[in-house]
Amino acid sequence: MSRIAIVTGASSGLGREFVKRIDAGEAGHVDEIWVIARRAERLEALRRTCSTPVRPFCLDLTDTASFEVIEGALTEIPDVQVSLLVNNAGFGTFGAFATQGKQDAQKMVKLLMLAPVEMICRTLPYMHEGSRIINIASVASFVPQPKLAVYSAAKRFVLDLSRSLDAELGDCDIHVTAVCPKFMQTEFLDKAGDEAAAQAMTAIGFERVDHVVTAALKASNTGKGLCIPSLDMKAYYALSRVLPYKAALAVERHLGIL
Ligand SMILES: NC(=O)c1ccc[n+]([C@@H]2O[C@H](COP(=O)([O-])OP(=O)(O)OC[C@H]3O[C@@H](n4cnc5c(N)ncnc54)[C@H](OP(=O)(O)O)[C@@H]3O)[C@@H](O)[C@H]2O)c1
Repeated sequence: MSRIAIVTGASSGLGREFVKRIDAGEAGHVDEIWVIARRAERLEALRRTCSTPVRPFCLDLTDTASFEVIEGALTEIPDVQVSLLVNNAGFGTFGAFATQGKQDAQKMVKLLMLAPVEMICRTLPYMHEGSRIINIASVASFVPQPKLAVYSAAKRFVLDLSRSLDAELGDCDIHVTAVCPKFMQTEFLDKAGDEAAAQAMTAIGFERVDHVVTAALKASNTGKGLCIPSLDMKAYYALSRVLPYKAALAVERHLGIL
């Protein structure tokens, strides 16, 4: 049997850290790691740093043909098992919806919502008892966020999809973990669009990429459906579930986030 882990958005930030930690055995034994992103040279550089065999897939996950490539590659391997899928690829454009480029909005919908759904559909037939799915959501999913409308709605989709799939698949010991990080110092913020809006929101503070991956893998390995790595955001999540939306927005305005 050939056990593989698949990480989308592996060319930088959180995804790259996931690959390093899977390579170090923190998600159990895998025979191969498949890494997906658009920048081939980054994936190749990552491959050279790993001791586990790494198979790079230079793919744009906003293009539906990319999922055929992954499915095709899976069918070619006899007795393949997908032990872990990390749906991580993403970007977020900040700023008013009316001034946001239409293309960005469409791409966010495709990359943040359609791509995880496609990846799960294509890989689930190759999963078995003990397989895991990690979906990267965000603290932006807790409360609908003006000036981050498409991104926060898309991450809410990821959160809800993960939780219902975890409930559905948990009986087969296939667990789906939604991970909700707050801001991290990655390339994500370099492509954030409206810098003033992004800067205001980062008032909630940053957390370290390695801490997020540690928490995510621990939650996934133990079959937890939800992982909110930072303590203050755990409290914010609890609050967001009881506060009316207008009151939550008032709190965010008071904190200077909006
Ligand atoms: N950084 C934060 O503050 C933060 C906070 C909460 C949640 N998140 C989430 O964390 C995840 C990882 O983000 P990050 O912070 O690590 O940002 P990052 O460093 O910019 O990494 C994003 C990754 O997604 C890949 N990607 C982007 N568009 C793609 C496409 N069309 N097709 C395939 N791959 C694509 C990028 O690779 P290529 O450019 O090479 O394709 C890159 O590997 C995202 O889902 C993000 O929404 C980030």
